[in-house]
Amino acid sequence: MRVHDTEMPQRPLVLVTRRLPGEALALLERVARVRVWDSDEEMPRRELLAQVADADALLCLLTERVDAELLAAAPRLRVVANMAVGYDNLDLAALAARGIVATNTPGVLTETTADLAFALLLAIARRLPEGERFVREGRWTTWAPLLLLGRDVHGATLGIDGAGRIGAAVARRARGFGMTILYTARAPRPELERELGARQVAFDELLAHSDFISLHLPLTPETRHRYDAAALRRMRPTAYLVNTARGPLVDSAALDTALREGWIAGAALDVTDPEPLPATSPLLTLPNCLVVPHIGSASVATRTRMASLAAENVVAVLEGRPPLTPIPH
Ligand code: DGY
Repeated sequence: MRVHDTEMPQRPLVLVTRRLPGEALALLERVARVRVWDSDEEMPRRELLAQVADADALLCLLTERVDAELLAAAPRLRVVANMAVGYDNLDLAALAARGIVATNTPGVLTETTADLAFALLLAIARRLPEGERFVREGRWTTWAPLLLLGRDVHGATLGIDGAGRIGAAVARRARGFGMTILYTARAPRPELERELGARQVAFDELLAHSDFISLHLPLTPETRHRYDAAALRRMRPTAYLVNTARGPLVDSAALDTALREGWIAGAALDVTDPEPLPATSPLLTLPNCLVVPHIGSASVATRTRMASLAAENVVAVLEGRPPLTPIPH
């Protein structure tokens, strides 16, 4: 645990729950004392509750639950800056009741996350993890007409479930592959329809007509287990599911059955439920399931921008200015 600037106790205190890239800590240190959980591992809950007790600001990650219990342990808290665009880990009602400002990091991770979603889509369709294992295991003995046949991505139909910023960025990439684009959204996206020929459809139609479905919805009580057994059964047996949003959008047990019984062809997951996914998960025994450890926004530039934006939000609130990216509520 690092505590900076202890000679200036009059300054506000910011608790940072993990090691951060770039200049984020330096930005905070200009105006505050900074207490950092100096590790790449999660701060134990008991430690978090103890260390937040005298904090004026909390810069946290999607792994920290900011709920009534935490707020009760943090009587001085004025701002919670989540270093993520998603904020299902924050109890917004409890924060609002205490008048605590909540911020996230929208915009700065859109393109990087869309890159990963498209990489997963290509990788599962063309069986890249299987091919890589095949070579490493010394099983590559010849060129064979039937070896590792996958599905074409070009010309296929992509369903974007939730055409917000990241969903739209994935759709733009798909256009380069000549894909037909269907999308769901709360309101029509005329610019996507003009620019990409995308078509808004109901969820049922998305399930029935997509060769690939890419998830870009926030996790809310309404979207939890949106991909349950019934939804997965409505997908094509040749279709693939790509999830870079939040794990609990998909019912993991139903997905396991869907992959084993051939209701769908495959799944590529950056996010899982539970998360982290234990190495003993049955999903990891399936060749048609690709899992990576929640790295959608994990480029040097993007993680640096996310950390700086979270820090700038904290600084703004501590200086009495409006934050750059408040979470609307
Ligand atoms: C987010 O920002 O919500 C991602 O899941 C992590 O970048």
